[in-house]
Amino acid sequence: MTYDEFLFGAFPYVCLVVAIVATIWRYVTDRFSYSSLSSQFLETRQLFWGSTAWHIGILGVLTAHLVGFLIPQSILWWNMEPVRLYILETTGFVLGLLALVGLFLLIYRRVTSSRIRKVTSLMDTVLFASLLLQVVTGVWTAIFYRWGSSWFSAFATPYLWSILEFRPDVTLVNSLPLMVKIHILNAFFLVSLFPFTRLVHMLSVPIPYIWRPHQIMRWNRRQQIID
Ligand code: HEM
Repeated sequence: MTYDEFLFGAFPYVCLVVAIVATIWRYVTDRFSYSSLSSQFLETRQLFWGSTAWHIGILGVLTAHLVGFLIPQSILWWNMEPVRLYILETTGFVLGLLALVGLFLLIYRRVTSSRIRKVTSLMDTVLFASLLLQVVTGVWTAIFYRWGSSWFSAFATPYLWSILEFRPDVTLVNSLPLMVKIHILNAFFLVSLFPFTRLVHMLSVPIPYIWRPHQIMRWNRRQQIID
């Protein structure tokens, strides 16, 4: 087995199994710990700007990854016109930079405030380092290996599907540049970190609030009549 076969053919499965088993285990044994453990009461301003920029940027970028993975033809069709290609690439780049700036602010806040440092665990540090590596290698890829939105569909999408269909095709990725390879491997590592870190709060996004019935609030005391 070559290094590439191990890293791109076996490592992703190790990460996926760890993520699935540990998420189920945490759900069964400790589901009320699904949280990002707020530190807002210790500091608000930097948290607001960092968290807002980070979430807008990363959710936008991940949505683009998901579209490229699920309906790559739509991206290739969109990119047929050069103007549309530039619009997509520029939008992705701006979102990537927004995520990077937001993450810097969040890390800066943790490093510079002694109160926040006290509530920062080893797992938080591993997670922030890994997220930083992911965003830096992503933005690096966008800058130095142009038109990633098109070649993602030609290399990354078939590779990811080959993993999901249990027939890993390492030949699709072994000629990619080192930074792109690190980006892909670190993505799997991040997936394996999911159940052990604050990333698990993604599972507690209150989506059912959209369709659940309205709550009716009533005072539970006699109404006071004021003349
Ligand atoms: C945890 C999952 C992932 C995160 C958080 C992430 C994050 C990012 C970010 C922030 C960028 C920069 C966007 C830009 O500036 O245009 C990026 C770009 C990119 N990512 Fe990922 N990524 C993830 C997974 C993956 C995976 C699994 C692949 C491929 C198998 C991949 C392939 C790429 C490519 C090709 C680009 C360049 C896009 C372009 O040039 O337009 N990413 N990613």
